[in-house]
Amino acid sequence: MNVKYNDKILIVDDEPDIALILKLHLEDAGYITAWAQDGKKALAMLKDGDYSLVLLDIRMPRLGGVEVLRCIRESGSDVAVIMMTAHGSENLAVECMKSGAIDYFPKPFALDDMLPRVERAIAYRRALLEKQRLEREKDDFVSMLSHDLKNPITAVVGSIDIMREGRLGPINGEQAEYLQSAIESCNEVVAMIDNLLDIHRIEAGKMQMNIRGHNPADIIKSIAAKFDKVAEHEQLKLTVNLAEDLPAVQVDRNAFTRIIANLLGNAVKFTPEGGEIIIDCRSSLAEAMQENRIPDYVAFPVGFNEHRQLLSIYIRDTGSGIPEEDLRHIFERFYQSRSFERGGAGLGLAYCKMAVEKMGGVIWAESELGVGSTFNILFPCQDEVATK
Ligand SMILES: Nc1ncnc2c1ncn2[C@@H]1O[C@H](COP(=O)(O)OP(=O)(O)OP(=O)(O)O)[C@@H](O)[C@H]1O
Ligand SMILES: [Mg+2]
Repeated sequence: MNVKYNDKILIVDDEPDIALILKLHLEDAGYITAWAQDGKKALAMLKDGDYSLVLLDIRMPRLGGVEVLRCIRESGSDVAVIMMTAHGSENLAVECMKSGAIDYFPKPFALDDMLPRVERAIAYRRALLEKQRLEREKDDFVSMLSHDLKNPITAVVGSIDIMREGRLGPINGEQAEYLQSAIESCNEVVAMIDNLLDIHRIEAGKMQMNIRGHNPADIIKSIAAKFDKVAEHEQLKLTVNLAEDLPAVQVDRNAFTRIIANLLGNAVKFTPEGGEIIIDCRSSLAEAMQENRIPDYVAFPVGFNEHRQLLSIYIRDTGSGIPEEDLRHIFERFYQSRSFERGGAGLGLAYCKMAVEKMGGVIWAESELGVGSTFNILFPCQDEVATK
């Protein structure tokens, strides 16, 4: 006998002749089979046995196939189910597929129709289990990243900072310079882990955002203040232009901060010494936005067009620039445009796009090679002027 994968199949049918024919054919094809004469017995056998597939008759006394299918799905079992239908009950079989059956075949069955269906159902279940295993592995990896990697790096930054400030004894300018570089590199790794964690959370629908009205000027000023030291270290000029009376913007404060920090981080990374970075924030009426050349590949979130007032932020640099054909791809995960030598994982912009869209905004980039890049964000905002 040719046993393929040791897959066990439970045949559930009250007609012994049909069950026997199925059993012979399936065992001939290399499967292990068992037979349950009715639905109740089938449910009891499924509890103990480790079956890959159930061939389930729809019409049975005591407990019918539809009911058995419902019990199997409610139990959380991952066993695949194929319904066996008598002539005329095809509609019922289609209903069963909506309730979690993988396939159905009519009785009496044709061997060259039944066997491929069984094989497909078992292969499908195997692929599903593998996918679930990989998802679990990804979850474990992500939580390992956050606890086992991020926490020690944060502690390292704290210790280096104490040394850099001279609190453990005097240090010279060159030493301070090296310690500052070490802190910046650690911060890059922490930001990368944060991006990965948040992308994972947003994709899994587990990202809780606390979206409230915030004064954008306050947040931008405090991020820019943190980047002053980095820009100075890289000999870049950082200019912040904030319009007066900016309206409150409806965002999650933490996500908004991380978006701007990612964009400023990129601007610093891709702009050579002596360059300039400008961050500009103003409000615009939505009608005036048509003038803005928003590329056609930018998707607008539902309801975006209903806002009268928008907050427009751009971060412009005089850096290396991005080739035209890459502009639509740089927001994809792990996409890097000719920049592998600059380090990074290619996750920052993917996080920015997901987070901006989750807060109802849009983001896109414009660039000219060798001249610089501009990252634009539009957020819907409240009509009144921000007060807090
Ligand atoms: N200001 C910029 N100037 C030039 N190229 C940029 C700029 N910002 C982003 N890019 C390009 O887009 C790519 C994707 O950016 P993203 O922030 O997603 O990744 P990264 O910075 O390479 O890595 P990470 O953000 O994960 O540390 C970059 O690798 C780079 O090629
Ligand atoms: Mg980046």
